[in-house]
Amino acid sequence: MNQSFILNQLAEDRENYFHAVAPPIIQTSNFAYPTVDEFKFAIENEKDEHIYTRGNNPTVKMLCQKMAALEGSEDCLMVGSGAAAISNAVISQVNAGEHIVSVKNPYTWANHLMTKILPRFNVQATFVDGTDVENFIKACKPETKLIYLESPNSWTFELQDLGQIAAFAKSRGITTVIDNSYCTALCQRPIDFGIDLVIYSATKYYNGHSDVVAGAICGSKEKITQIFHNEFMTFGNILAPQNAWLMLRSLRTLPIRLKQSSETTLKVLDYLRNSDKIERIWYPFSEENPQIELAKRQMKMPMGMFTIALKNRNISTIKKFCESLQNFLIAVSWGGHESLIMPKCAFVEANDPQVSMLRFYIGLEEASTILEDLDKNLAIL
Ligand SMILES: Cc1ncc(COP(=O)(O)O)c(C=O)c1O
Repeated sequence: MNQSFILNQLAEDRENYFHAVAPPIIQTSNFAYPTVDEFKFAIENEKDEHIYTRGNNPTVKMLCQKMAALEGSEDCLMVGSGAAAISNAVISQVNAGEHIVSVKNPYTWANHLMTKILPRFNVQATFVDGTDVENFIKACKPETKLIYLESPNSWTFELQDLGQIAAFAKSRGITTVIDNSYCTALCQRPIDFGIDLVIYSATKYYNGHSDVVAGAICGSKEKITQIFHNEFMTFGNILAPQNAWLMLRSLRTLPIRLKQSSETTLKVLDYLRNSDKIERIWYPFSEENPQIELAKRQMKMPMGMFTIALKNRNISTIKKFCESLQNFLIAVSWGGHESLIMPKCAFVEANDPQVSMLRFYIGLEEASTILEDLDKNLAIL
């Protein structure tokens, strides 16, 4: 399906709301029916009908349809955060006594789920270096039911070979889940490589305006329906209609936002590569990335986030550099309109080997503004 059609036309029902270009926000918790038979039909078909907004809401459903179409998946569930997408998807695939193989260092709260919460219910996880498919194969046991991926991860950008891992998992009846937040469906479509469930922090690029926390789970009709009737309805971490509407607004500009961020990022990296202040750059499309061929095979475009290590390891100089930048906010997250810097020294002690690492996200400012800012302030180091 054509991307412009998905973003502008798919699931829009304009003749039913006064031909308004922008859809209404159906801000209701409840839905009422004129007859008992119609009510009964809706109850019996809750996944597709409207009973109560914890299950379905027309504004949220419009967003789900667009997200599924972008992903090339049969179905999608929107939830209240990326963390909710992770926990709904992972918990839906495992029972007590079963096992997960996960890429090492997944996103913090995915890690917490698999190391702290699931062991309480007798689900154990093994974490492997995901750059070698053999590591997943070796770590799988007869009771392994899930392989958890994040490609690339969001500090050092290691990738996993999605096609090979999906083929192995399928041969063993193991479900694969990937956190695809770094890429979005416009850059990488894991379903095309055979991955079963794709989850997102839609807070990042999809919403893109730093004003909504949201998550998405994309997959087959069968798997999404199973999650809907179990974890989704039970945990109740829904996306509110108002936030779904903000996300519908945001999706219209997703391709152009990604393009701008991507183009500026490449210019910034060209500049940083020639700076004598920088020890190392981590970026999927960097020539020095040993996995660059895999990145080119799996990812359709360079994205807007990378990490550098400074040569200067003096913590007060690093802090001064971060604080002097006029166009980079010191913050977590990414994918919004604004450029961000996340200094590792906010998380580790001064003598940690990683202390000079800085993660950058490049927003929608003009490249010249960002380059001038960096040029002026790298001189501090
Ligand atoms: C890679 C990744 N996955 C998932 C999440 C969780 O998303 P949310 O903050 O929307 O719950 C984040 C949040 O920073 C993230 O960086």
